[in-house]
Amino acid sequence: MCGIVGYVGEKSAQDVVIEGLRRLEYRGYDSAGIALVHEGSILSDKKAGKLANLEKDLAEHPLEASTTGIGHTRWATHGAPTDRNAHPHLGQHDRVAVIHNGIIENFAALRGELEDAGVEMRSDTDTEVVSHLLEAEVEAGADLTVAMQRVCQRLAGAFTLVAVDAADPARVVAARRNSPLVVGLGEGENFLGSDVAAFIEHTREALELGQDQVVTITREGVEVTGFDGSPAEGKHYHVDWDLSAAEKDGHDWFMRKEIFEQPHAVADALLGRHSPGGRLQLDEMRLSEQELRDVDKIILVACGTAFYAGLVAKYAIEHWTRIPCEVELAHEFRYRDPILTQDTLVVAISQSGETADTLMAIRHARAQGSRVLAICNTNGSTIPRESDAVIYTHAGPEIGVASTKGFSTQLVASYLLGLYLAQVRGTMYGDEIRGVVHELEQMPGHIQGILDRKDAIYALAADLADARSVLFLGRHAGFPVALEGALKLKELAYIHAEGFAAGELKHGPIALIEEGLPVFCVVPPQGRDQLHDKMISAIQEIRARGARTLLLAEEDDPAVAPYADSVIYLPRVPVLLQPLVAVVPLQLFACELASRMGHDVDQPRNLAKSVTVE
Ligand code: F6R
Repeated sequence: MCGIVGYVGEKSAQDVVIEGLRRLEYRGYDSAGIALVHEGSILSDKKAGKLANLEKDLAEHPLEASTTGIGHTRWATHGAPTDRNAHPHLGQHDRVAVIHNGIIENFAALRGELEDAGVEMRSDTDTEVVSHLLEAEVEAGADLTVAMQRVCQRLAGAFTLVAVDAADPARVVAARRNSPLVVGLGEGENFLGSDVAAFIEHTREALELGQDQVVTITREGVEVTGFDGSPAEGKHYHVDWDLSAAEKDGHDWFMRKEIFEQPHAVADALLGRHSPGGRLQLDEMRLSEQELRDVDKIILVACGTAFYAGLVAKYAIEHWTRIPCEVELAHEFRYRDPILTQDTLVVAISQSGETADTLMAIRHARAQGSRVLAICNTNGSTIPRESDAVIYTHAGPEIGVASTKGFSTQLVASYLLGLYLAQVRGTMYGDEIRGVVHELEQMPGHIQGILDRKDAIYALAADLADARSVLFLGRHAGFPVALEGALKLKELAYIHAEGFAAGELKHGPIALIEEGLPVFCVVPPQGRDQLHDKMISAIQEIRARGARTLLLAEEDDPAVAPYADSVIYLPRVPVLLQPLVAVVPLQLFACELASRMGHDVDQPRNLAKSVTVE
């Protein structure tokens, strides 16, 4: 959700903040705004729409130079995405400016209280109450840090807040509860950001903050406290990727770049995960072998694309370990009173590590005594921090809103988890595990092979540019791939798309088939006779009813050609690993189709990366 930047130092705060917002715009892009402190006043500008609108306005109406500032890109929750509702919000005497990510749940009561005291509201947002409350505190004599501590104690909900005070030009103060915020540590300058992309071109040294903490940055240093003012400490870490990872590198979209990064990302996700003797080792696996042997049920919780990775994980983990696995949407899990014991292992899958639904799910699980393992891409984010163990996916920053390398590396981490459990519990022999690891190590090459044949997929996208509805069918591990293919198309091309388990077709969805309807079918590898043959039967059934069949099938599969309008050939891989290769053409297809339709592939309408509100 919203992108947040704060800066204090010696550079132009406007330049630093706008550059940071550009790198964070994938988090939200309904409106953008900036506030600078200059000679005892707040200078502010904000505009509905993308960051470019704000930049244009700043070019036409330049603000005075300043070295202290804050900036925001918004994903609207309370109040329409208008100029008036864009952040920053100022107190009634324009002394304090505030930006916010999250939802202030008790804002209506606070707003009523402020209105009764004669404050005139200038927006429809929940955020504005905070600017008035902070301003009242500083006007009564508190410094901005103390003001923030006091105000936070009155707020309910999830929030990252960042504020400046016109009368205190060398200080930026921020607070967080259930919402992301990191500090960038510079020399003679310091930074705040929703994530490290906000300041990666200036520093790779960062400070992770805990829950319910207030942080004050000045040129000279950083001070962290609890909401009650008690001293606290952030956790220092070094960011292991650099500016080039946050650039498009010659591609038209971040998403396309990230699709093409998958051979590397998958290789990185595997790197260093087994010893020379062939035993798997997961450094961040903080659960003991005994704890893992005691596990009697696994529940995988996640949302969206990460949930589909969880569906694949279930097939693999159950097969390799014989531990019963359930997969649940995190938001459903949290509110249905699931049966959890201390021997239940809850696996949270999240690229961002900040998805509020998944975070609430793991908190619930831990409160019931279950152990939680996170599969996550973002170092220092909340979900791994609040988990008992973590497997980092090492995909590097994912900036395109639609997840691609995030998904493929979540699959790799899930496979590693399954194999590791099998090793600990003795449900597979060492040579069997090494065999699967060896197959995994071939995946970067296989994915590269598919990427090298991108033109055929782009041609298909050109051909289907007028499609109004597309279906995706899969079976077994191919079913989540079908769901993911459909999601990619929905979110990027705004086309009606549905994924179905092929076996379910005759129970209803086959009624949707009509002349010319494009249907992608993920054909299981030939070695799985029954699955493969049943899929071929399903394809015949839809073709007989006029569907245009677009098959993803193994390269030497002779059974598919008679029933295919088009075939995208996949390399020969084990059935459980097929999602890693089968998803790639579907990502390329959605990216290309959306791009041809003139859509903003990296910032699809109504979406935001990292959904930090429930
Ligand atoms: C779709 C997509 C989303 C995310 C979902 C979970 O392309 O990106 O469906 O997968 O919002 O996000 P994370 O993995 O950050 O928890």
